Amino acid sequence: MAEWSSGYVVEVDYTHGFYQELTPSLLSFGALLQNVRAPGLQTEPLAYCELGCGQGFSTNLLAAANPHIQFYATDFNPSHIAGAQALAQAARLRNVHFSDDSSADYLERKDLPDFDFVCLHGIYSWISSENRRTIVDFITRKLKPGGIVYISYNAMPGWASVMPLRRILLEHVAAQGTSKPLLSRIPAALDFAAQLGHVDARYFASNPKVAARLEGLRTKNRNYIAHEYFNVESLPFYFPDLAQELSEAKLTWVRPMRWRRSTRST
Ligand SMILES: C[S@@+](CC[C@H](N)C(=O)[O-])C[C@H]1O[C@@H](n2cnc3c(N)ncnc32)[C@H](O)[C@@H]1O
Repeated sequence: MAEWSSGYVVEVDYTHGFYQELTPSLLSFGALLQNVRAPGLQTEPLAYCELGCGQGFSTNLLAAANPHIQFYATDFNPSHIAGAQALAQAARLRNVHFSDDSSADYLERKDLPDFDFVCLHGIYSWISSENRRTIVDFITRKLKPGGIVYISYNAMPGWASVMPLRRILLEHVAAQGTSKPLLSRIPAALDFAAQLGHVDARYFASNPKVAARLEGLRTKNRNYIAHEYFNVESLPFYFPDLAQELSEAKLTWVRPMRWRRSTRST
């Protein structure tokens, strides 16, 4: 495990996906539907930030579609950022700025503007409490008054029955040792968990949906599985606990942003 990763998986790259919930016009529209004044999308110079942007595919696509907005995005995995920058260059985007800073290093930079939007997709539940604290500090310092934050997270109680499965998988890949790459250890971990299901271990009997989830995992992209299940940290939130953490950044809840299921490319 690389020291700079704080237990987050970095030996395997994440998938290339576009998540429409990150779209500035949808975020503003969602706020307006709740009678909340949103950053104007046409009249003001706007700045948008994505923390933990992965392959940067969403940011690049949004930058191409919104030339009047300056997009800033960071992800501490340099492999992700090299790909994101190459795509931005190939698309000749002038309004997107990627860096491979950790969120903590990004917070210390003096060359960033204040932001109208700060967005995080697939990061808040998968990092340490210290790194979550950094994100709250970032929002506190860098979000403009009236700005919008979008955060996705794994939610309770839905994830309650899945956490033991995650632990079984995590322990199994650890027991296989680190001489083989993580991706090649995942199938054996899935097989082992399935065997527990077949011998009717009480956990599977008491949580009948877990077997279906496990079966579904076999068809999923392994890079996705690595990032969803194999980080050291994983914390599904009850909404009030999340709201409590974020209230320190003076945020108030506006609305959920699930318009329809997003797609993930493999
Ligand atoms: C599950 S991926 C989601 C990526 C992207 N937001 C998406 O939805 O495709 C989480 C990302 O957060 C990045 N990450 C984790 N901890 C980080 C940190 N402390 N600072 C910056 N990036 C981090 C990882 O490298 C990974 O690319």
